[in-house]
Amino acid sequence: LVAVIDFGSQYTQLIVRRVRELGYMAKLYALEDLDQIHEPGAVILSGGPKSTTDADAPDIDFEWLQSLNVPVLGVCYGMQLLNIKHGGTVKASNKREYGPAALLPETCVGLYRDMSPSSQVWMSHSDTVDHLAEGCRVIARNAEGVPVSLQWGETTFGIQFHPEVTHSHEGRTILRNFLSCAANLKKFDIGDFKRELIREIRERVGNRQVVCGVSGGVDSTVLAVLLHEAGVNMRAIFVDNGLLRKNEAEEVRANFARMNVEIETVDASERFLAALDGESDPEKKRRIIGGLFIDVFWDAVGDAEMLAQGTLYPDVIESASNAKSKASVIKTHHNRVERVLELQAQGKVLEPLAELFKDEVRELGASMGIPHDILWRHPFPGPGLAVRCPGVVTKERLDIIRECDAIFIGNLKKYGWYDKVWQAYAGLIPVKTVGVKGDERSYEWATNLRAIVSEDAMTADWVELPPALLRETSNRILNEVKGINRVLYDISTKPPASIEWE
Ligand code: XMP
Repeated sequence: LVAVIDFGSQYTQLIVRRVRELGYMAKLYALEDLDQIHEPGAVILSGGPKSTTDADAPDIDFEWLQSLNVPVLGVCYGMQLLNIKHGGTVKASNKREYGPAALLPETCVGLYRDMSPSSQVWMSHSDTVDHLAEGCRVIARNAEGVPVSLQWGETTFGIQFHPEVTHSHEGRTILRNFLSCAANLKKFDIGDFKRELIREIRERVGNRQVVCGVSGGVDSTVLAVLLHEAGVNMRAIFVDNGLLRKNEAEEVRANFARMNVEIETVDASERFLAALDGESDPEKKRRIIGGLFIDVFWDAVGDAEMLAQGTLYPDVIESASNAKSKASVIKTHHNRVERVLELQAQGKVLEPLAELFKDEVRELGASMGIPHDILWRHPFPGPGLAVRCPGVVTKERLDIIRECDAIFIGNLKKYGWYDKVWQAYAGLIPVKTVGVKGDERSYEWATNLRAIVSEDAMTADWVELPPALLRETSNRILNEVKGINRVLYDISTKPPASIEWE
């Protein structure tokens, strides 16, 4: 096991992820939990926001660290701490060095085996090492000749930069070189990882009842199946807000049935439609839906002994840093509402996926036999079709969207494009235009088709779908969907447009 000790950097979990990508088991430990680390094969000290010169700078029991007798890598704050522990000093500075820098290794063995003579790394620090203790070697400098990497003895290293971010071009090689100094590291295996998660879940839950919300999306599905596999007393609640796609509620129920996981459905569609009646302001619509969801969900939950949430690592980071994206605000909304915070204070919130990234959640899901189509479902917003229906939301409008969307998504699958796009949907443009249907004049609404690719939803590009796919979709919508006489394809990038229309 590679033990990564957290000094509070934004990137700490990325280190864990990178080690897992290199094929080794890694786990993040808070400074208070060092007693839980048993016989690690290597230790990495993360970066952190504090200065080692602060009075309340986080510290580590150096005797304990040395007694482990394993390779140690200090990153940023970790390196400065190691320098102090070995008898050197650190200089505080008000100037922050942030961004790309050159790394010039002074050796081509050990940490810098197989590296370019000059390589870009990513810096994010203000303090720098000052005095180096006897026996400490400088193993790399930046372009100005300032030491940015140190070595003590055979296998204790320090680096001022962040190898875990992709802006450090050869970061992966550096981490691999570090890990190759360790003997008998445990290989990362998703099955072992799952067993460990299940062990932790059982230990925390005991014989209490744990409630979780399911939406049919990837994260909540993997969570519910994991709890089910752990064999704990679980209630999974699915709220049908009436803003779902065609047959979606039935599909979600059928999907859970085929995985033998029992879910309770709360059909609140009438309540949501009534609450939205006559409202056309996008933000007000969102607030109505978000607020009612919380009411309906917590009514169904009642007095929870424990609540499980499918929070992933990027959500944890986004909530912490108050990222501005709508999705993260809404997630914060659902995952961090007052009621949840109260339960959290009582130690009643379980977030077993909080260490994982999306692709790792999918891998975990696949290892539990969750079908591919569920794991690779496109993202779907919490407020559902309401954000694809500008203006007022009515059952008639929603039904039209559902029909257009089903035809479009069906064709994406038929033509093999569903898995190639990140998200796709049909929405409604409630503007009537004139057309001809049969021999009659028609005066009907338009539908907009949107298909985008994205990495993280922050930016997006529209997809050049094959004309045959678009043509068949358009023909079918115009022929089959009552109320639509025009089909438009949305060719807007994000920014400046967003993925959804509201
Ligand atoms: P926008 O429209 O902001 O969407 O470009 C970015 C991504 O976030 C999804 N989205 C949401 N997801 N609750 C969610 O869970 C929301 O309120 C919400 N609004 C947008 C959207 O589908 C896209 O994937």
